[in-house]
This record gives sequence, C-alpha cells and structure tokens, in this order.
Amino acid sequence: MSIAIAIDGPAGAGKSTIARLTAKELGFIYVDTGALYRAIGLAASRRGLSAEDKDAIVAMLPGIKVELAFNENHEQIVLLDKENVSGLIRTPEISMMASAVSAIPQVRAYLLDLQRDMAHTNNVIMDGRDIGTVVLPDAKIKIFLSASPECRARRRYDELVEKGMDVRFDDVLKDVIARDYADSHRDIAPLKPADDAILVDTSGEDLDTSVNKLLNIMREHL
Ligand code: DC
Repeated sequence: MSIAIAIDGPAGAGKSTIARLTAKELGFIYVDTGALYRAIGLAASRRGLSAEDKDAIVAMLPGIKVELAFNENHEQIVLLDKENVSGLIRTPEISMMASAVSAIPQVRAYLLDLQRDMAHTNNVIMDGRDIGTVVLPDAKIKIFLSASPECRARRRYDELVEKGMDVRFDDVLKDVIARDYADSHRDIAPLKPADDAILVDTSGEDLDTSVNKLLNIMREHL
C-alpha cells in the first residue's frame, strides 16, 4: 500500500518548496497539483478565452491532454498536449487564470483521477488546496501550511524577481490577497483545513526551520 501525505494551504505559504525538499528526504514523489490547474489556465489563455468564459473552458477540456511526468532529477514536469509547459505556467497572468479555472467544477472533476492515480501508484507528498479534504481524504498525514499575506507576498515577489520578472511588491501582495479570497470563497472545494489536518504557520521562519519542522511532524506520524 502506498503512503500519501497531503499538504494544503494558500499560495506562497512555502508548500511547494517544503513539499519538494521533504519528499526528497523521505524518498517520496512530490506532486504539485497547482501545476495542473495552471496548465488548464494556459490552455484557456492560448485559446484567447477569459476567466469568465466558463462554458468555453469546459468545452475545451475533452480536446486537451494534461499529464504529469518526472525528469531524471525526479522533478515534476507538466505536459500540455505532450508539450513541456512547466516554465510557461509560472507567470502572474496564468496564476489568475489557474485560480479562475480551478473554481469550475468540471475542471476539478477532470483532474481528480489523474491526482488519485499518482497517489495509488507511488508514495507521494501532494500539495494543493483540497488534497486532504477532497482528493486524498484518507491521506496518512494532512498538513495545512499557512503564513501571513505579507510574508507570502514577499516570498513570491523574491521568487519572481529572481526569475528576472519585472513586478512590483504591491501588485504581488494584491494578487496574493485576491487569490486567497477567490480560493477560499468558491463553492466547490474551497481552501480550508481538513478536520484532522495539522496546522503549521511558517510566518517569519526561514526555509530550513520550516522543512525541519515538517520533517519532524511527518516522521512522528508515519
Ligand atoms: O499552488 P498554485 O499557486 O500553483 O495553484 C494555482 C491555482 O490552482 C490556485 O489559485 C488554486 C488552484 N488550485 C486548486 O484549486 N486546487 C489545488 N489542489 C491546487 C491548486
């Protein structure tokens, strides 16, 4: 039987970096489910669709193929119609599109089996918004990771600047607050901790501290 660890929480709480590093340490596969929603956001954006074109986004789904693969370093790659789009999905525009498409029930249903299949065949640390509540309700360990909006915006801003993107901190903060609101107020699979989730706040912590904290929690509960 494979083991699943779910890490949910808002954007910028450090989920992906922490999940990746803890997975490496435990020998688990790290699955970043946000990338799947981003790939669908990219597909919609390439077709010139806007976030409001829900019917057209749903109609697009049967004609596209989103897949996950892993490179030689065991890093996740997202394929959209066989094209590696892992780099293209990391822009602020696609962040907003991903948030919009993730509120559409048919999009969530479309991605459900893919996520569950990954967990059935591998030991996974899977991060997202509804992993512990909807995707893997029987996950062995559920962690809900959070941090203050300012702290999360600062991390995201540093990441984007490092990638050479021209962004303003205030815009990133606004984006974080808008996405938090959208993600936690949608009708379907809103962002909220599972009843049996362990709540962890990473505000003001450096990465090493958060990774060690999570590793201790995981080892204690495995
Ligand atoms: O984690 P991220 O920023 O890459 O996620 C992109 C968007 O996808 C985010 O706005 C919320 C949504 N998402 C979701 O609804 N459910 C998930 N399991 C993962 C992400």
